Amino acid sequence: MNLPLRGIDAGIGLRGDGRCSPLASRGAAPSASPDDALPTAYMVGNSPALLEVFDQIRSFANFDLPVLITGESGTGKELVARALHEQSRRAAGPNVAVNCAALPATLIAAELFGYEKGAFTGATARRCGQIEHAHGGTLFLDEIGDMPLDLQGYLLRFLQEGEIVRVGGHKPVKVDARVIAATNVPLRAAVAARKLREDLFYRLNVLTLHLPALRDRDGDAEVLATHSAAQGRAGAWAKLP
Ligand SMILES: Nc1ncnc2c1ncn2[C@@H]1O[C@H](COP(=O)(O)OP(=O)(O)O)[C@@H](O)[C@H]1O
Ligand SMILES: [Mg+2]
Repeated sequence: MNLPLRGIDAGIGLRGDGRCSPLASRGAAPSASPDDALPTAYMVGNSPALLEVFDQIRSFANFDLPVLITGESGTGKELVARALHEQSRRAAGPNVAVNCAALPATLIAAELFGYEKGAFTGATARRCGQIEHAHGGTLFLDEIGDMPLDLQGYLLRFLQEGEIVRVGGHKPVKVDARVIAATNVPLRAAVAARKLREDLFYRLNVLTLHLPALRDRDGDAEVLATHSAAQGRAGAWAKLP
């Protein structure tokens, strides 16, 4: 894989066997969340629409397949992704979150796929990407609609073959991570506008979980308000399952 990149600080994250060392021990990149920094997935609300979402989370967590979470901003997509990981058989593994909208397009390749020493100016050592850090666990790709087109083929290869190639490298690296993606833009429109590869869309959209807007969830706004105002107060919480 070869992409023009510059100005990224290099870190060393490989063990002797070529695998990445745990992210938490090295300090996470700004856009990534190591699993141990994430609180347990608590979601409040008791509208029929949200209870249906809870059921879907419990059911989807058991399938080791990609999930696409759709819904407006603030509807809780990231919480759902966390809950899916925590309810899954991968719960003891890493839960790595990458926000595709939070990084300039030129940095996303290095962030996701890592790079080899000498891949670009400033790459003084090999560095693992977030996909490798998710090995054995879950990779959450937030705002997937912002994934640059030139990287989508590499992501597709990962989804299809379970392997990646670091930037500047040639050797494929096997990675076992479940992919959960989220979007607040309609991806079918992105496919129609040729901003998203159709084959990637179908690979990501194996299981779909739609989060209804708060205005369509009777009573949840009040519960959420209480929850925000008095986080942790007894009675306001509903832990999954
Ligand atoms: N059902 C819920 N229960 C508790 N907190 C929620 C719920 N839905 C959203 N939130 C909170 O609202 C904020 C936005 O949620 P987030 O998961 O980031 O939404 P999205 O990813 O869809 O934009 C977060 O602070 C989250 O904890
Ligand atoms: Mg979000």
